[in-house]
Amino acid sequence: MAREIVHWPDPVLVRPAQAVVAFGRVLEPLVADMRRVMFSLGGVGLAAPQVGEGLRLVLVCPSSEPGEEEVLVNPIILEREGVAWREEGCLSLPGLFGRVPRAARIRLRVQDVAGRTSERTLEDWEARVVQHELDHLDGVLFPDRMLPEERIALDAGLAAFERAYAERRA
Ligand code: NI
Repeated sequence: MAREIVHWPDPVLVRPAQAVVAFGRVLEPLVADMRRVMFSLGGVGLAAPQVGEGLRLVLVCPSSEPGEEEVLVNPIILEREGVAWREEGCLSLPGLFGRVPRAARIRLRVQDVAGRTSERTLEDWEARVVQHELDHLDGVLFPDRMLPEERIALDAGLAAFERAYAERRA
């Protein structure tokens, strides 16, 4: 069955994901589902746990242009520099937004779907998108990064997601 978006507080979103150890074709169905879900919902990034797979794999497309998306497997941030604040949202918390601090520049080590390792430096919006998605692999969502006094504004919305989850489970 095709994977679909998972909303907070589903447990897969709040626990650490597992390293990817099998590369190549076995990843294709997951990546295809993630690509479809991300673009159909207008996202610029999607982490595997957001479609119910607890794996350290994310899809990012900071430009929003289909065809420019990239799969990052087992990503690790090696260095962080500076800080920038900007409003973020999340496909697993649709309708909620909040200001989040992120490193302005990161040094990233990733594998591709074939398991090849590379390193790069990312800045600004691209760095933000990657940091948001990597947080998903550690069970962290953007409200966890907000200032407590600003996060209060999301309390009612988060409570509504908790009720919706409880109703789906009932
Ligand atoms: Ni998100």
